[in-house]
Amino acid sequence: MAALHSVAALRAVPAALDGLPVAGQGLRFPPVQVPDLTYTPEVARETAHLYDKVARVIPPVEWPFFAPYVRAINEVKRQRNAVILAHNYQTPEIYNCVADVVGDSLQLAREAARADAEVIVQGGVHFMAETSKILSPDKTVLIPDSRAGCSLAASITGADVRALRASYPGVPIVAYVNTSAEVKAEVDICCTSSNAIHVVESLGVPRVIMVPDQFLAKFVAARTKVEIIAWHGACEVHERFTAEEMRRFRLDDPSVRIVAHPECPPEVIAESDFAGSTAAMIDWVKTNRPGRVVLVTECSMADNVMAETPDVEFVRPCNLCPHMKRITLPKILHSLVNMTEEVVIDPDVAARARRSVERMIALKA
Ligand code: 13P
Ligand code: SF4
Repeated sequence: MAALHSVAALRAVPAALDGLPVAGQGLRFPPVQVPDLTYTPEVARETAHLYDKVARVIPPVEWPFFAPYVRAINEVKRQRNAVILAHNYQTPEIYNCVADVVGDSLQLAREAARADAEVIVQGGVHFMAETSKILSPDKTVLIPDSRAGCSLAASITGADVRALRASYPGVPIVAYVNTSAEVKAEVDICCTSSNAIHVVESLGVPRVIMVPDQFLAKFVAARTKVEIIAWHGACEVHERFTAEEMRRFRLDDPSVRIVAHPECPPEVIAESDFAGSTAAMIDWVKTNRPGRVVLVTECSMADNVMAETPDVEFVRPCNLCPHMKRITLPKILHSLVNMTEEVVIDPDVAARARRSVERMIALKA
């Protein structure tokens, strides 16, 4: 079903590109040769090895819509000396056919710091593109649609963090990477869902403030002796899952395994067999090879894992992140051709935010 959703986005190309800048900020870059977007036997031949990777989730009738964009993006990427970093929630045609690096927020942040390309295109939401720019200030970082936000990042501002600091003097503040650069600049250290407990305990203090995800904060609080003071943000995708839904999955099939993201409410985590970041969830499925599994997270991830785990059946509670789904193949191509939309961060804010992200990255795994 997620693939159908992607095709709908592709067919809406003109509308989807409406309102995005066409040249402007990209004028300092030389024009590139944009390959023809017609599906021909040559395009079919050149992209056949990529179709093999997604054949389980994209029906053959849909491939002619994707293939010309896949070929064009891979060609323009070379001309621009660009890399595409794609989050695990990107649709399968992005994740499998044009991305150079895929992963969870921590892996993408690390790769952004290492990338030796001149241009980074972020297949993900705006805070992820900002993190890439924070770590690679000399590179051009592009986001194919800057409206790709995040309910967690939108729940807190730099002024909120300053107010928290005034209310709890001396208590360190940890920010989930799902925050703006402005918020990262105000905190002591960042964390992701894969290292949150480690980051909190590394501070060596009895009390820590965690922003902005109340559920990640509860997840950590249940697994550490450190007292956690939480902000009230929530992910609009994960907060919708319920324990009742999980119990119904088990009632339908007692052998089913349930794997959840820490952004879910605690009652949902309590019903699951494992909880971890998107990368940890994928590793769990690859290692444990359950006959049937429910991935309690954004819907596209099951499509992406499925390509590599043909023996596993995925039960699909399909919650889509509307922000992640703003990124499509036509918008990625548009972004590379026109060098838009460039992520720009005030240098002082970026320097302070970099300190928080680098402190996290410097912690030993
Ligand atoms: P991960 O760091 O686990 O990939 O999570 C990012 C995210 O946005 C989850 O909703
Ligand atoms: Fe933000 Fe939730 Fe979407 Fe992740 S899934 S980007 S936390 S809104």
